[in-house]
Amino acid sequence: MRFEGSNQYVATQDLMLAVNAAITLKRPLLVKGEPGTGKTILAEEVAQALGMPLLQWHVKSTTKAQQGLYEYDAVSRLRDSQMADIDGGDKVKNIHNYIVKGVLWQAFTAQEPVALLIDEVDKADIEFPNDLLRELDRMEFYCYETRELIKAQTRPLVFITSNNEKELPDAFLRRCFFHYIKFPDANTMRQIIDVHFPNLKKDLLAAALKTFYDVRNLPGLKKKPSTSELLDWLKLLVAEDIPLSILQTQDDKVAIPPLVGALLKNEQDVTLFEKLVFMQSRNR
Ligand SMILES: Nc1ncnc2c1ncn2[C@@H]1O[C@H](COP(=O)(O)OP(=O)(O)O)[C@@H](O)[C@H]1O
Ligand SMILES: [Mg+2]
Repeated sequence: MRFEGSNQYVATQDLMLAVNAAITLKRPLLVKGEPGTGKTILAEEVAQALGMPLLQWHVKSTTKAQQGLYEYDAVSRLRDSQMADIDGGDKVKNIHNYIVKGVLWQAFTAQEPVALLIDEVDKADIEFPNDLLRELDRMEFYCYETRELIKAQTRPLVFITSNNEKELPDAFLRRCFFHYIKFPDANTMRQIIDVHFPNLKKDLLAAALKTFYDVRNLPGLKKKPSTSELLDWLKLLVAEDIPLSILQTQDDKVAIPPLVGALLKNEQDVTLFEKLVFMQSRNR
């Protein structure tokens, strides 16, 4: 089982290496990187390339580890038990009917090998990763209500992504193989764009990329635009048929790019950019 990249996803050599290392070690692959650098989509692509179903768990600030294992629906059981005289109450007697299986349970008991994505693990509180240590390490957990041990037949291929909003505990890190998706260099970016827009004109691409990296390298930006913003912006440039001349500026000056709202997402950054352009025009 090896991942060699795919038609829709540009994987750098070191990313492929990391994926295959995680497969060999049978450890979760922890993928960090700026938002929009293709972390979530990586899990989908690898699962598809290896022909595995992908179970996804999107973590929120309120997510608890237990929800990934199972939840016991005591309220429904109580309600059913109150109505039980009417229809015999067989359902109420069997506690299994009130166990709601979480993604880990589903992944552990799947018939075929599956991939499991725990997306944006840093959104939850600090206890969340700690609470999953044993489950991810031993790939088993105990259900007290039904008194059964849920143990993975074959270890799922686990992807964990983080946007780096919080530090993860050391004990958690020890159990993962780590990879940081670096922001793509211009060459990789060209390949990524080619995947999404195979027919983009060369000169438009060159001008757009230059503008994009100019914006990105502006010192002091609060939120640098990333791959997904660039893709959105290109889509707009094509859809709106923006002429090339608007993107090309004379003598290497920066100008406010058209449809800048696709790239810069807060007013401070736009103001910063406007100031820069203003200063340039004064120095001319
Ligand atoms: N290496 C890549 N190859 C192809 N598309 C990419 C790549 N990296 C990012 N993208 C595109 O960027 C967008 C954002 O990716 P996503 O996985 O949601 O980012 P993240 O989870 O890191 O925030 C997706 O639409 C994806 O198609
Ligand atoms: Mg994501």
